[in-house]
Amino acid sequence: MSSSKKSGFYRLTRQERIDWIARWAELTGQEIAALDAGLALEQGEQMIENVIGRHVLPLGIAVNFLLNGRDILVPMAIEEPSVVAGASFAAKLARAGGGFSAAASAPEMIGQVQLLDVADLEAAQAALLAARERLLACADEADPVIKRLGGGARDLEVRVLPDTPAGPMLVVHLIYDCRDAMGANAVNTACEKLAPLVEEIAGGRVGLRILSNLADRRLACAGCTIPAPVLAFGDFSGQQVARGIVEAWAFAAADPYRAATHNKGIMNGIDAVALATGQDWRAIEAGAHAYAARSSRYTSLSNWEQTADGGLAGRIELPLAVGVVGGATRSHPTARVALKLLGVQSAQDLAAAMAAVGLAQNLAAIRALATEGIQKGHMTLHARQVAMAAGAEGDEIEQVARRMAADGAVRPNQAAEILQAMRAGIVDGE
Ligand code: MEV
Repeated sequence: MSSSKKSGFYRLTRQERIDWIARWAELTGQEIAALDAGLALEQGEQMIENVIGRHVLPLGIAVNFLLNGRDILVPMAIEEPSVVAGASFAAKLARAGGGFSAAASAPEMIGQVQLLDVADLEAAQAALLAARERLLACADEADPVIKRLGGGARDLEVRVLPDTPAGPMLVVHLIYDCRDAMGANAVNTACEKLAPLVEEIAGGRVGLRILSNLADRRLACAGCTIPAPVLAFGDFSGQQVARGIVEAWAFAAADPYRAATHNKGIMNGIDAVALATGQDWRAIEAGAHAYAARSSRYTSLSNWEQTADGGLAGRIELPLAVGVVGGATRSHPTARVALKLLGVQSAQDLAAAMAAVGLAQNLAAIRALATEGIQKGHMTLHARQVAMAAGAEGDEIEQVARRMAADGAVRPNQAAEILQAMRAGIVDGE
């Protein structure tokens, strides 16, 4: 049970898959039940307002991941076909080169305090910097638990925004180590705590007190190398595939229109793990895209190059503000099991794993795009969704999907026609 390399995982029945992952992660009966039951309506009512139901997504497992020498199973919650299969496939390729190496920096978030109506911006800036220790001590009073766990206020920066539509302003950045929490609450509380003291020291009037989702002090990176021979398939040599992948990356590196789609492919993987493990995926999305535009030109979050021997080397770096405590990570029963399945002990471990999944997802997408195209692999699964939307049930789903794929026409009206004909006995399902 020590290897996540599992060819044919997709061919197992759902029950066989559950049995396998339950043995892998030593899931209890209650945890196995949570995979299906998910969040109870009563629990949902404690989370948001005006609750009327529950919205459910499929939870899949990506296999084959080797991360820093350790086998991991990757839980992914997503509605899009091919994402889980793509991640598993890319992880298999990366495995041939030793898997992914990944790491995350200290879990430091940035909190912002906006200061308006400041008479002398430079004098205020100097006064705030001179009072650094006092301000950090004040921020630390906000969350004694994080402080006890070794986190808390780390540093202070003061930025001048001389020319905004509302006139000049100062921005205090509180650098705050959130340990294993995503940290939004802790950072926001610390900023609110800090605000009166900022006013007292600098003069002026405090405006916003809120974290920044451009969490560029909380970065995760991952890399992999893939030997050319494992990239070969069909009529494509390994070197051709590697070259195609580098050309696809170069397109994204140079063109924001392509980079947005390229990065969307990366986020397919990252968001799916974020959803499965109960993260604030909007914060992750905001951070990733802002980071992709940090040079003032939106570009690729990943980087691919050919190695001297014709293989492929890939790398990704992005902010990942994630947690393994707080938020929905513990209160959502499925998220709790997903974290156990992934086997991560800290927010940094989780961020590192997510970066590796993002890189894998990117590899799967651009490999397909640079060779046979994305639609071939996509269509069979997509056809099932179209069949379901047309009303197909049970075995009909596969039968309608297969017939549409064979006809090369995967469209709702086609699905409805086939379904009608099948139900009327005009065509059989086989
Ligand atoms: C689709 O969800 C994601 C892709 O468009 C990513 C890409 O183009 O690199 C296939």
